[in-house]
Amino acid sequence: METITSDIQEQLADLPYESVFEINGLNLWYGDHQALRDVNLLIPKNQITAVIGPSGCGKSTFIKTLNRMVEVIPGVRTTGDILYHGLNILAPSVRVESLRTQIGMVFQKPNPFPKSILGNVLYGPKRQGIHDKRQLMEIAERSLIDAALWDEVKDRLHMNAYGLSGGQQQRLCIARCLALQPDVLLLDEPTASLDPIASFKIENLIGTLKEHYSILIVTHSMQQASRISDRTAFFLSGEVIEYDNTAKIFSNPHDRRTDDYISGRFG
Ligand SMILES: Nc1ncnc2c1ncn2[C@@H]1O[C@H](COP(=O)(O)OP(=O)(O)O)[C@@H](O)[C@H]1O
Ligand SMILES: [Mg+2]
Repeated sequence: METITSDIQEQLADLPYESVFEINGLNLWYGDHQALRDVNLLIPKNQITAVIGPSGCGKSTFIKTLNRMVEVIPGVRTTGDILYHGLNILAPSVRVESLRTQIGMVFQKPNPFPKSILGNVLYGPKRQGIHDKRQLMEIAERSLIDAALWDEVKDRLHMNAYGLSGGQQQRLCIARCLALQPDVLLLDEPTASLDPIASFKIENLIGTLKEHYSILIVTHSMQQASRISDRTAFFLSGEVIEYDNTAKIFSNPHDRRTDDYISGRFG
């Protein structure tokens, strides 16, 4: 217990921002396989936090714990605390549906619903009981503008989302999250299936979103992490090896394993 406390205090000392998540002693098992080991992290508000590390190190597992998405997998067991603005979200009393509204998630492969562009953006608000046509159109327009997609789709909002390019589909998935007015965005390798130009647009978009949202992004690309993030956590075999300001991680990492990874010696 003592080491966890001092670890958090150390992190607080060089973290001038209010935190959105405080993660204390988080462990996670898939059956017998331990995928997260004693993770202790403070995730700052209105910043971009990158999660990096080799395949299988637990990046997706980690971000899926933050909106309890990981629980849909049978046999998952977690211990430890995840405080979200001070609230322990692992408590059984937390309503996961409202948690997932607050904490939106976008996956590696764009996954629009087989619906129109408008149908995708308005799916969540309608489920929340909003039916006023004008209000819905305002939500759609705002969300698509904020996801940097409006100009490309405003004349074809009733077209099926599958007719969009991969990059546009991914921005639509971001717009679908934004329509619920979330607080946090979890992005799991959101550009991994996109070409460089589409990836670049998404990176720019993420940069503009941090003004209003706290963002965690899993990425395989060192360039991407160093270009867009403020903080970087390096995971290895389910453990956080190093967590620091991105500039520090990429210029002068503290741990040799971080250095080996960022300079491409493994992973
Ligand atoms: N649904 C699952 N059932 C069992 N093991 C899983 C499952 N998902 C991931 N794992 C295991 O947990 C570890 C972490 O996986 P993951 O979080 O997907 O890593 P990453 O996103 O860093 O590639 C890996 O060893 C992986 O095989
Ligand atoms: Mg993954």
